[in-house]
Amino acid sequence: MTRPLTDLSLPVPAKWDRSGLPAWTYDSKALFALERAQVFLSHWQVAGHESDIPNPGDWLTFDLLGERALVVRGQDGVPRAFLNLCRHRGARVVDGTAGTCRGALICPFHGWVYNLDGSLRGAARPETFDKGFDRAQFGLKPVEMQIFAGFLFLRFRPGPQPDVADLLAPYAADFAANRAETLVPAQTASWTTELPVNWKSVRDVDNEGYHVALAHPALQDLYGRDYRDIYLPGGLHVSYGIFGDRPGRRWSVRQYIQHTPEQPHLPPHLKRNWAYYGLFPNTVFAFTPEGAQYYHDLPIEPSRTLLTGRQYRYPNETRQMRLARYLATRIDRETSAEDQQLSIWSNESMLSEGFEGFHLSDLEYGLRRHHDQLRRLLPVTTRAEPPPEDEMQRLNDELICQSKSPA
Ligand code: FES
Ligand SMILES: [Fe+2]
Repeated sequence: MTRPLTDLSLPVPAKWDRSGLPAWTYDSKALFALERAQVFLSHWQVAGHESDIPNPGDWLTFDLLGERALVVRGQDGVPRAFLNLCRHRGARVVDGTAGTCRGALICPFHGWVYNLDGSLRGAARPETFDKGFDRAQFGLKPVEMQIFAGFLFLRFRPGPQPDVADLLAPYAADFAANRAETLVPAQTASWTTELPVNWKSVRDVDNEGYHVALAHPALQDLYGRDYRDIYLPGGLHVSYGIFGDRPGRRWSVRQYIQHTPEQPHLPPHLKRNWAYYGLFPNTVFAFTPEGAQYYHDLPIEPSRTLLTGRQYRYPNETRQMRLARYLATRIDRETSAEDQQLSIWSNESMLSEGFEGFHLSDLEYGLRRHHDQLRRLLPVTTRAEPPPEDEMQRLNDELICQSKSPA
């Protein structure tokens, strides 16, 4: 029997610094460049689920801040990740978000052909290259990939996080209980929207439950009386929203509670739980009894962020489960629109000279923890005043050196 993570939750300290990151960190180009290198490209990012590419030749892509990956299932059934970057002149070897190919990937620019294991099968017009042209030197460049509970995780550069299985070990029992490995893509699996905000403003909203009571009437109706943030070691953050103590006042919530089927395989703490599992810096996995999704915010520029996610269902889905999933999605869409508005307000507040920073409630401690992880990686963010943009990297390097040198 899996133990509820609530048993492991770290307490909110009696005294803590309730301020957030300074406003300048939300629009500095130089800091954004550091975040790209030290936070995004060097931390695990979810790119999909094994079931998104069920057959040899199936592929999906994942783009992040100028880097781009493709994951393709080989003839041997093994998924592998590569840079989606042709070794001839760098074109995208596959175009789009997902697809399937027959036995080989053919670059659309000049037709170089790659095997599904990334090796170069051949260049078009090989006689036009140098005599000693060695195909073995021109395979697609591998990208680090690990699989956890069926989900595919990529990392463009080495970084401070351990292997995904170790990093997410506290989630393993809940993911297994939810049969995450068996999930398959929902019919309309992915959604994407762009917001004119810094990515941290999206996280700042999503990392706390203080706003649920007022800003999310449907969630409040569904589970507001029994919502709980759980802070785990290693920067992990889980939220449990237990529903079903009341029939629900809003139409979609009432219908959902009425139709969501009892799942006998789920342990008691997950039977009537909308559970959210965070992964630093920008990802959340969400399970409800009838399905799952992940969502993440992918920065584009300091003030532009792509919000995107994928939804999954169970392969043996009954009509009742499908109805419940439809109703859950309706509630989610409403919630997401509300959060997007809050992110915009949160981000624009920083333009005002009167803005004096955050003063956080104990119910917003998750936001503080997220900021603390960023402060550790990028100590320059502890500066109240913005450093000169051209000094940002040097100053940050100095602060890292100081923190490592013996006192
Ligand atoms: S860039 Fe791919 S074949 Fe030329
Ligand atoms: Fe929210």
